[in-house]
Amino acid sequence: MDNPDTTGTAPWSDADVRARVEALLKTLSLAEKVGQLVQIGAADFVPGPKPEVVIRQGGAGSVLWLNDTKRFNALQKIAVEESPSKIPLLFALDVIHGYRTIFPVPLALAASWDPATIEGAQSVAAQEARAAGLHWTFAPMLDIARDARWGRIVEGAGEDPYLGAAVAAAQVRGFQGAYLGTPGRVVACAKHFAGYGASDGGRDYDPVYLSENQLRNVYFPPFRAAVDAGVGTFMSAYMDLNDVPATGNRWLLRDILRGEWGFGGFVVSDAFAVGNLVTQGFAHDARDAAQRALSAGLDVDMASSTYLDHLTGLIEDGTIPLEVLDDAVRTILAVKVRLGLFEQPYTDEGLLADVIARPEHRAEARRAAQRSMVLLRNEGQLLPLSKSLKHITVIGSLANSKEATEGSWMVFGHVPAAVTILEGLRAKLPDATIDYAPGPEINRDIPSWFESAMAGGSRASQSPEDAERAYQAALATAQRADLIIMVLGEHANMSGEAASRASLDLPGRQEELLKAVVALGKPVVLVLLNGRPLSINWAADHVPAILEAWEPGTEGGHAVADILFGDANPGGKLPVTFPRKGSHAPLYYARNTTHSPEESPLYNPRYWDGLPTPLYPFGYGLSYTTFALTNLAVSAPQVRVGDSASVTVDVTNTGAVAGDEVVQLYIHQRFGSDSRPMRELKGFERITLQPGETRPVSFQLGPAELGYWSTNAGRWVQDATTIDLWVGSDSRATLHTQLVVTV
Ligand code: BGC
Repeated sequence: MDNPDTTGTAPWSDADVRARVEALLKTLSLAEKVGQLVQIGAADFVPGPKPEVVIRQGGAGSVLWLNDTKRFNALQKIAVEESPSKIPLLFALDVIHGYRTIFPVPLALAASWDPATIEGAQSVAAQEARAAGLHWTFAPMLDIARDARWGRIVEGAGEDPYLGAAVAAAQVRGFQGAYLGTPGRVVACAKHFAGYGASDGGRDYDPVYLSENQLRNVYFPPFRAAVDAGVGTFMSAYMDLNDVPATGNRWLLRDILRGEWGFGGFVVSDAFAVGNLVTQGFAHDARDAAQRALSAGLDVDMASSTYLDHLTGLIEDGTIPLEVLDDAVRTILAVKVRLGLFEQPYTDEGLLADVIARPEHRAEARRAAQRSMVLLRNEGQLLPLSKSLKHITVIGSLANSKEATEGSWMVFGHVPAAVTILEGLRAKLPDATIDYAPGPEINRDIPSWFESAMAGGSRASQSPEDAERAYQAALATAQRADLIIMVLGEHANMSGEAASRASLDLPGRQEELLKAVVALGKPVVLVLLNGRPLSINWAADHVPAILEAWEPGTEGGHAVADILFGDANPGGKLPVTFPRKGSHAPLYYARNTTHSPEESPLYNPRYWDGLPTPLYPFGYGLSYTTFALTNLAVSAPQVRVGDSASVTVDVTNTGAVAGDEVVQLYIHQRFGSDSRPMRELKGFERITLQPGETRPVSFQLGPAELGYWSTNAGRWVQDATTIDLWVGSDSRATLHTQLVVTV
């Protein structure tokens, strides 16, 4: 799509920004400086005085949990005309996968393995959000997630640091444009720094214990990539990392982020997290929490009011040097200067309607949804379906749910308006009879606070009698059809924050109904709507066609119909391993080789009650065509440490229709300073090939790909060793060669 402003250059030089910031800083009183570090929540659930009152007194530098252009302008007017400093506010919100035009959830976008699509999606999100008056989004979420039980796996790019880093950079470019302050874009926020995805047991918010080597090799790379892409802000994570809350973690926020990576933006806490340093058993009281957070490098207090209440006193009595406060204020003023807020603090209230009406936004959302879907099974080439089908039954309560189609993390106040799968199918085949039976509803066993605050939230639960009636009605409807499309999975509120679960099975009576429908002996297609891997073991053996549609967004129903009827050919690949059971989590492909490899009979099996091999491996996904990979070659059999080699392979479309293949390069280091994973992704490219077409694909392998943080050496190393290389269509790739690395 047309992104006119991705190559522009900033109107401000760094020196201009610095000079402007220093001039502003000199005019600010202590209280006004503290105010810049305070973010207030404008939602009803936030206790305390009204935003208008706090802003008028100069007690806020930014506002969140508000999505109303008129009120943005009204609050901004108070800030720039009535507050003591007259400094404009930043308006921030979680715009995670679209503002009005909703794109597939981030895990799904990652499944496209297509940075250009992801950048395009977040650029649309940014344009719409900015037109509404927002300046800053709390995205991208960059937490590596290897435990499918963790609900927030839906918000990230999955389990892999290499894919995660590529997706991170694409999102930052999409949100921010060519530079921070690009007109019509927003400031991005890399969150949650760091390690949040590795919570004990996959339970949301629980403590995280990760070695330095795991952090640096696995959990940090997407964050580092965001810094390198120029991300404006970071958000600290909620939980304890190795017994130090991320919000008060000087090693994370000062030593790594600023010291090693040179990040020059600012860090906001997660919601109420500064105040909660007391709850977490870290800070003695709120004053101690404020002191320890700011000293650790946490610039902005999200909604806890701890900085507002205590920073002035802490500076006045000399507990915190003024220079520490000034440095934090500088980073916030710099973002406001770069955004041009001093010149144009207001938003044109007519703009949003024009921007959201752009037809290319919808087209981009449909294409992104098509590209993110993963074909998991297609026995006997049941798919694509014929458009001459006369009588189809669609079953499943998710099939006609706008919330489930748009998915987890709706923008505050957004009303879901997706094309559902049922609607998409009816639009695709206007002349066919398409019956619909929702079957029994599905619900969480235990609701969360987010149920009431977010779209897709609480529904009255169905009585067992009504559920039984709905179940029987679905079976009866299925009897009449030539083909049945079952839409099963999870509701939007079943993944996301406070939405972890112990099992990965289809919730409710969905699998029971699936079995009964398959027993009718008619062709059945299963479409999955979900925000995490699901253990669909029975379906994987018995349902001939399975499409992983994730939570595909506004155009999701059209995109599913496009794929099922062959107007688009699926080419997405799994960015996460699908385990056979929740209790197998965390399960990921990049594990170390052990003294007793899994294929050896000695000391195996790993569990005696079921193999923990993946149901579907990382990188997996089918197409309506087939591909052959041949002529794998390395530019040199041997290179020196520090030098690079290129790896090439020819990819041929051997089937009858055009299609996409994601060519993937994996490496394994045979020996060295530390043991290394049995496979690690180090290159990928999604290409489109016509039937019979062959194209070479090449990857570079150099110190960036072959180096790692060594526990033994306590530093980054690249070893003299032998590297196994595989290129293929998923993490089980078999086409092999090797590269010798010498000193
Ligand atoms: C979440 C963040 C989010 C923040 C603001 C928190 O509960 O953890 O990801 O950005 O709320 O809405």
